[in-house]
Amino acid sequence: MEVGKRVLLIISGGIAAYKSLELIRDLRRRDIAVRCILTDAGSQFVTPLSLATLTEDKVYQDLFSLTDENEMGHIELSRDAGLLVVAPATANVLAKMRAGLADDLATTALLATDKPVFVAPSMNVRMWEHAATQENMSVLQDRGVQIIGPEEGDMACGEYGMGRMAEPETIAEAIESFFLEAHENIGQRSDKKLAGKKAIVTSGPTHEAIDPVRYLANHSSGRQGHAIAKALAAEGAETVLVSGPTQLPDPEGVTVTHVKSAEDMLAACEAALPADIVVCAAAVADWRVANPPQEKIKKNGTLPTLDLVENPDILAKISQKGKSRPALVIGFAAETEEVVAHAQAKLAKKGCDWIVANDVSPETGTFGGRDNTVHVIDSETIEDWPTLSKEAVGQKLASRIAIYLEKKS
Ligand code: PMT
Repeated sequence: MEVGKRVLLIISGGIAAYKSLELIRDLRRRDIAVRCILTDAGSQFVTPLSLATLTEDKVYQDLFSLTDENEMGHIELSRDAGLLVVAPATANVLAKMRAGLADDLATTALLATDKPVFVAPSMNVRMWEHAATQENMSVLQDRGVQIIGPEEGDMACGEYGMGRMAEPETIAEAIESFFLEAHENIGQRSDKKLAGKKAIVTSGPTHEAIDPVRYLANHSSGRQGHAIAKALAAEGAETVLVSGPTQLPDPEGVTVTHVKSAEDMLAACEAALPADIVVCAAAVADWRVANPPQEKIKKNGTLPTLDLVENPDILAKISQKGKSRPALVIGFAAETEEVVAHAQAKLAKKGCDWIVANDVSPETGTFGGRDNTVHVIDSETIEDWPTLSKEAVGQKLASRIAIYLEKKS
């Protein structure tokens, strides 16, 4: 199955429809495109204008619209997405799905689709517990429909119990997992785009010893570098991740070398070469203490002086011209101001092929956070990417790498 990362989101008429706006934002952040069908009842709660603005796409409402049918017929609409999601899914729409009714655009698309369907039920607790709804859910589940939630809690009607729609983040996570799995399944088949290539990725901070118990470091969590390594491996590249100290588990399918200092990181990268692709996402300390003592520095009334020396520049070394230079060397630029201009200067200075610039000012939350807003820069172009999860940045970068190497070969 060819899986486009696009969801057809069907919004039916429940009070939780307002949460669909948050769901769309969350999905866009995960680099998943959304197209909406809004039922008549759904339009009592959210406007087509809000949905069109957030999805940057047309909102479909009418089964008998001549213009819509001309542009994209309801059958095509139901199959163009990789996944159909009904959120909120009211008791009414669930009953229609079970019965196979097709009396509006939403139910027609649900009946006509050949794609998986997720539903996020949302209704009053009595309606949820009603034998009819429970039977409908069980039949839908048997047919392969995946049910997300509902959750227990206070309801808009004033009652308490089961029936509240799952939070947008929970629904978005389930959708993202679906696409990740679908992507990995594609990867297990013969069309892995980076099969036969070797990649080295650096990630995390480095720790530079001050003495046996203290060190110099920075706020990198390793999330971005680890996500890139995982995405390259999912595309079929034999991937070596050289990681500074992080709290993260080793990504699946990746060979991980754990290091502490910049010098260790350089040695591990050199040991892993040759490679076709190198991505330096680690926040390597620029300096280390010249001669760290073997014993702990004592607090004896005088302030210690730290003599710093410059660390080797791993990215610049790997980028050096030569027969065994990797075909594609990518650096990252962590900047706090004039992000693109400073990154362009780094691209030239370090001699890499692309540089991925990100703003690491504390207010962006890039260090350690789940999202990243990057600009991918080469000698000719600057590509501004929207704010995406670090996993989505990893996948988008892996796809861009695959396209570049294919064109180059
Ligand atoms: O780890 P996270 O919390 O997910 O955060 C991600 C990140 C912000 C750390 C990451 O996206 C990032 O920007 N990594 C590069 C950080 C950095 O050190 O940037 P820099 O501008 O100081 O260095 C430029 C490039 O040279 C980087 O590719 C760096 O890996 C490399 N470098 C720097 C110094 C050195 N001695 N050796 C190097 O290889």
